[in-house]
Amino acid sequence: MLSRLWTFCAGDVGPFEVVSVRAVCGEALPLTARLNVVNGDDDSANACTYRLRGVVSNERYLTGVEKRELTRVQQPLGRAPATLGVLIPIKKSDAWWDLPQDARRTLFEERSAHIALGRRALPNVARRLHHCRDLGTQEPFDFLTWFDFAPEDEPLFDDLLVRLRATEEWTYVVREVEVRVRR
Ligand code: HEM
Repeated sequence: MLSRLWTFCAGDVGPFEVVSVRAVCGEALPLTARLNVVNGDDDSANACTYRLRGVVSNERYLTGVEKRELTRVQQPLGRAPATLGVLIPIKKSDAWWDLPQDARRTLFEERSAHIALGRRALPNVARRLHHCRDLGTQEPFDFLTWFDFAPEDEPLFDDLLVRLRATEEWTYVVREVEVRVRR
């Protein structure tokens, strides 16, 4: 059975070759040669330049209708043609976390259309969202977002990034790094 914990270990080993590392907002991460994605705790024998951990959790914002629609169209990670991956760790501001749940939902979807924008990239882009705040340890990011897609779908993914980063939701993002990989 899969653990809810996932570890992204960047260093010299792993199935993914790191193509680029770019700070979108705030401090960057070091450029490494490879990225390893490990279910559970990583193998501590592997020396990592940096190690990011997060857990797959329950959804916070989805309505029933939205959840059924996403479940219907979304594809699993690791499909054979999906040779490009992007890890985007994100931290949001205290102002975001101070908001009550209903205000965050309104900002997330009614005012920023995160789900509606994301839906347009499905089924081509596959994704997994990891939460870091609930680990109980001091983590540098709040979320680890992980995507894969075929090379011909890179423009679709890049267009989604431009649209999401222009939303009101993103005014609460205080750190964001884009780690692009291929396998
Ligand atoms: C590929 C299409 C995408 C879809 C369908 C999608 C869908 C979603 C959904 C449904 C949630 C809410 C989960 C919940 O209810 O708790 C979510 C959360 C999130 N997504 Fe996306 N997303 C997509 C792309 C992206 C991209 C490209 C990024 C980063 C640049 C991103 C960053 C996030 C973050 C950080 C959260 C957590 C927000 C929070 O809890 O404050 N998503 N996404």
